[in-house]
Parts: sequence; structure tokens; C-alpha cells
Amino acid sequence: MNFEPPYTDLRSWIDCAEEINELKHVRGAPLDPDVGRIAEMLHHTDDSPAVLLDEFPGFAKGYRILVNANGNRRRLALSLGLPLTIGKMELMNAWQRKLDTLKPLPVNYVESGPVMENVLEGDAVDVTKFPVPYWHAEDGGRYIGTGAPNITRDPDTGFVNLGVYRVMIQDAKRVGTYISPGKHGRVHRDKYLERGQPCPMAIVCGGDLLLFIAASVELPDNVMEYEWAGALRGRPYDVIKEKYTGLPIPADAEIVLAGFVHPTERLPEGPFGEWTGYYASNQRPEPFIEVKAIYHRNNPILYGVPPNKPPYEPHRYRAYLRSALLKQTLDAAGVPDVTGVWCHEVGGCRLLTVVSLKQRYPGHAKQALLIASGARATGYLNRITVVVDEDIDATDLNDVVWAILTRSDPATQMDIIHRAWSGPLDPIIRAGQKGFNSRLLIDACRPWEWRDEFPHAIGPSPEIKRATRDKWGYLLK
Ligand SMILES: Cc1cc2nc3c(=O)[nH]c(=O)nc-3n(C[C@H](O)[C@H](O)[C@H](O)COP(=O)(O)O)c2cc1C
Repeated sequence: MNFEPPYTDLRSWIDCAEEINELKHVRGAPLDPDVGRIAEMLHHTDDSPAVLLDEFPGFAKGYRILVNANGNRRRLALSLGLPLTIGKMELMNAWQRKLDTLKPLPVNYVESGPVMENVLEGDAVDVTKFPVPYWHAEDGGRYIGTGAPNITRDPDTGFVNLGVYRVMIQDAKRVGTYISPGKHGRVHRDKYLERGQPCPMAIVCGGDLLLFIAASVELPDNVMEYEWAGALRGRPYDVIKEKYTGLPIPADAEIVLAGFVHPTERLPEGPFGEWTGYYASNQRPEPFIEVKAIYHRNNPILYGVPPNKPPYEPHRYRAYLRSALLKQTLDAAGVPDVTGVWCHEVGGCRLLTVVSLKQRYPGHAKQALLIASGARATGYLNRITVVVDEDIDATDLNDVVWAILTRSDPATQMDIIHRAWSGPLDPIIRAGQKGFNSRLLIDACRPWEWRDEFPHAIGPSPEIKRATRDKWGYLLK
């Protein structure tokens, strides 16, 4: 299946979304508290539209905010350039095939682009010129970066990474970031700070959704997000070498902030409503960026993806993408006959991972459990990983819980792993003790030794179910 995104930047994405009746407009809404409340309502309503907000009281007309862009499968298909009617499994399989076969394309350096329409330096730097709401009632600041790829470079290898990390306005010229331990941007930043050097960073606060998607999932370590997004689109990504940091910034972005993380000073960051549904990391001293330059298009569009209780917008799309990444990891690790993988939305696509497989040998299920709970895509802040037989639909919570309740003996088929990869956002770890967590591995497959004697499950096979629906489905209408 071909991926052919019919858009090239955020504006052309908006035009496409409008054409297919997936976008609504709001004008004149108060920034606070309405924008955060509108986003929450959209995030928690199935099949809600993307919304473009404009004309905020006290701000220039045309300074806009887009929310809920990838909130349903139809718009995710648009963002990836897939058929709009694509099914759940079809989408996941197409994405995995693409991950397996894509040859990254080196970026294309250009001298200028739409993002250079407005360049603010020195005294003119003022990040408060953009309308940025308090996304949740108890937030400690206005978060200009919610759907914002942060660009960093590894000082040792020169490798450029884009990762979506939150960014809070501290004042007109400083923004705070929070990056969880183990994320690529954190590793880059820590290397500079350990040497007492300022870390160059650029933040894309609104821009191409394909690049945003690439920056928000755990692409393999050696894949650069620009090169991946360029390859998916079939042409090298246009970037500009940013004047102060030397980092490549997208030529067609809406808003980019560029500057340096202060090597030693820290400022309070948070609290911020987080993807687990809590203010779990509270307020802590965190590094901040001294902004040297702001680049933005005329009438810039901020992209807003404020976290909400799971599942919310990114969980609706990352379930596909992260599940496919895990399937790829299991395949690469040599775990045979994996028939399904799902990173469940209710756990923010991290806390609950399910793998289904056709058991081939003793220990097969445990092998999959160990890899699935520790992989790059799924290892961070996992809580429960489950392996089920191939007759269980890994995406169906009812089916999975039924398997746990009926095929898994807690005394012999459940293990607890200690001191695993967590961080400040983990709500069940007390402040002052955060860093590690424990996790539960559940083998919910029929026990290998007596799988042939295990009670037969009642109910027809999927084929018979389909045939019954073909014949008798009219009764349901
Ligand atoms: C909307 C959104 C906001 C996110 N915010 C953060 C954040 O504040 N800090 C963080 O470490 N990860 C955050 N993430 C997760 C990272 O973007 C994700 O783990 C990504 O893979 C990181 O890139 P990396 O693998 O190159 O480190 C966020 C993801 C999304 C979709």
C-alpha cells in the first residue's frame, strides 16, 4: 500500500481536512479557560473533528491554534497519506511494512522558506506574542510546546534527533522543557550539560504533521525523523541551517524557537496535566532555554496537543504506530508466530501492552513477555504486559481480560519485574522515589504442558461468525 500524503505543510493539511469535512472553525473564543476545555471535549469524544481557533481577544487576528488534528483514524490516514477508509489492522500492517522497507532520505538544505517570513532576534524576542492557553486548570504555566518536535544534536556523533517534549513559557525570552530520562533529546542534552556547555535546541511549535508523528513515536535509534518523513513523502525534507544553533529547522514550519539550554541554572517547571491523567511530576527545577531567535510564518498556527486522561488524541493514533514498532522489534528479536500486538489506548499506549502468538515451544510466551516489556518502543513506563494465544484479539480489552481471568494461574503464570525504566511522571511512585518502577508480566496463554487438555472454548470461529453475520446479520438492523 502506498503512502502518499496529499499535503506538504500544516496549512495544506488543514485545506485537505476541510475538503473532507473533518475540520471546524472557532472565532473569538476566550483563550482561558475555553481552549483547554474545548480540546478536552474533543479528545474525549469519538470521531470529533479537528478545530482551528482564531481571533483570540487581545491577540492579532490570524494567530491561530489547531487542536485534535489526528483525533480519528480518517485524519490519521490523511496525515500518513493512506486511503481514508482504511481499517484498524490494515493501517497497522501498512505502517509496519513501511517501517521495514523505508530507505531514509538525507535532508535538503535550502537558504530560506516560509518560516523566515518573520525573524525576531535580540530585544524583539517575545514568546508571549502567540496566543497560548493554560491547557488545564492547575497548570503552572502556559505550554507553547505540546505538539512540538524538539530538535537536538548529539555532540559526539552529530546525529540530529526530533522528539516531541513539552515546553513551558517562563517569560518572554525563556522557555522550560521537560524530557523524560532515556529519551534521545535527554541523552543529547545531558551530554552538553555534563560538560558544562550550553545545549543548542530548536523547537517547532507548529508545523508539518508527518514530522510531528515521526517525532512522537520511538523510531529506531539510527533513524533520523527528517530523513524518515522525507522518505515517506518521497522527497528530501527541506531544512534551513538555523543562524545561532546551526540546527536544521523545517523550512515550512509555522513557529520555531531557537536557543540554548542554560548549562547550570534551573527554573521551576510544571505542574502540567500529563498523559497518565495526573499532575504526577508536580513542579521541579528543570533546565530552560534562552531563546535567541523566533521564526514564524505570517498568521502562524500553533499546534496544540495538550495531554488529557487516557485515551486522548495521541493515544488514538500512537496505538497503531507503537504496536507496529513493537511487532517489528519482536520479529527482529526472532520471536516467531506473533499474530497480534496492541499498546492499549487506556494505558496511554505504554502502561498496558498485549501480544498474541501461536505457542510453538515451552517458554515462547515468556520470551515475548520479556522483550515486549523492555523494548525501545514499549519499555518506558510500562506497567502490565500480557501474552495471549492466537485466538484472542489483542486489541479487544474484553477478550484479553477474559484470557487473563481464565487461562492464567496467578501463582505460576505471573511475574513481577523490579527496578524497570520509569521516571517522574509515574503516578504510583511517590515523589522523591521516582525513577524505577515494577511491572507485571502475565502469561495468559493456555499452559504449554497441558494445552491440548485445556477446556475447549465455546463459541464459533471467526470464519463461522462472519458467515452467520452474512446470513443473519439483518436481524441486527
Ligand atoms: C503530544 C505529546 C507530548 C509528549 N510530551 C513529552 C514530554 O513532555 N517529555 C517526554 O519525554 N516525552 C514526551 N512525549 C513522548 C515522546 O515524544 C516520545 O517518547 C518520542 O518517541 C521521543 O522521541 P525520542 O524517541 O527521539 O526520544 C510526548 C509525546 C506526545 C505525542
